Amino acid sequence: MPSRYAVIGNPIEHSRSPAIHAAFARQTGQDLVYDRILGRLDDFAADVRRFFAAGGAGLNVTVPFKEQAWALADERTPRAETAGAVNTLIRLLDGRLRGDNTDGAGLVRDLAGNHGFTFAGRRVLLIGAGGAARGVLRPLLEAGVAELVVANRTAAKAETLAAAAAPFGSVRGGGLDGLAAGQGFDLIVNATSAGLSGALPALPAGCLSTGGWVYDLVYGPAAAPFLDWGRSQGAAVALDGLGMLVEQAAESFLLWRGVRPETAEVIAELRRATA
Ligand code: ATR
Repeated sequence: MPSRYAVIGNPIEHSRSPAIHAAFARQTGQDLVYDRILGRLDDFAADVRRFFAAGGAGLNVTVPFKEQAWALADERTPRAETAGAVNTLIRLLDGRLRGDNTDGAGLVRDLAGNHGFTFAGRRVLLIGAGGAARGVLRPLLEAGVAELVVANRTAAKAETLAAAAAPFGSVRGGGLDGLAAGQGFDLIVNATSAGLSGALPALPAGCLSTGGWVYDLVYGPAAAPFLDWGRSQGAAVALDGLGMLVEQAAESFLLWRGVRPETAEVIAELRRATA
């Protein structure tokens, strides 16, 4: 019997996770099936329990359930604890559920592993202070950045996030209006949802260093406003979140199966399919 995995979200029909995990399974020769589940907005916990009661081995969790998954996990990894959100549930041998969050690791692996960005000593600006930003904050700090600034339209949220992440590195939070030209960020990561409505966070010109990089956590058209802004600021590299999507999936696959899949071909295939 193949092991059963799935991604649960709402909506879920456009999720790329089944295709990504099917490719990983083929590549590594793992005997598994990976479905998509439309989670009920008013009964997510019951949907999760049913999946695991029927023998499911692991779940990916996506919007809007990551915080609920955090709450229902029986135990959580430190990075999930800090993220306040769980995107991977693992059924342990005793039936308890461990919650992890592979989003930040996926971002770091895409930047460093796939594109050769060096985090050590860099000044990084993270824009946004919602769930997406919180998910990547600790892994960015632990990647060895010299300084991380979290800037958000609503300054107080960034300040709260930065205070909670202070044990993991040099981080401070504030408003977008506190940013200025000449701050010389080596990398600016957009973790806002602005691009989903075609908008661009209000960023001052000149805060990206010469040869700096920009990265949007989302992919496709929603990443365009920010990446276009980055190019207009002279970014040497402008990346959307497609690589992160595949890398966070690879991290989940590793947790579940103990094997790390190769991602380059899967990213290339997804790039072709979404072009
Ligand atoms: P997610 O789970 O995607 O992070 P969220 O928790 O709703 O979604 O957070 C959305 C983030 O995008 C917030 O940081 C939000 O800023 P506020 O906290 O000020 O609301 C940010 N955001 C959304 N639209 C924006 C815009 N047009 N300009 C700047 N920031 C925006």
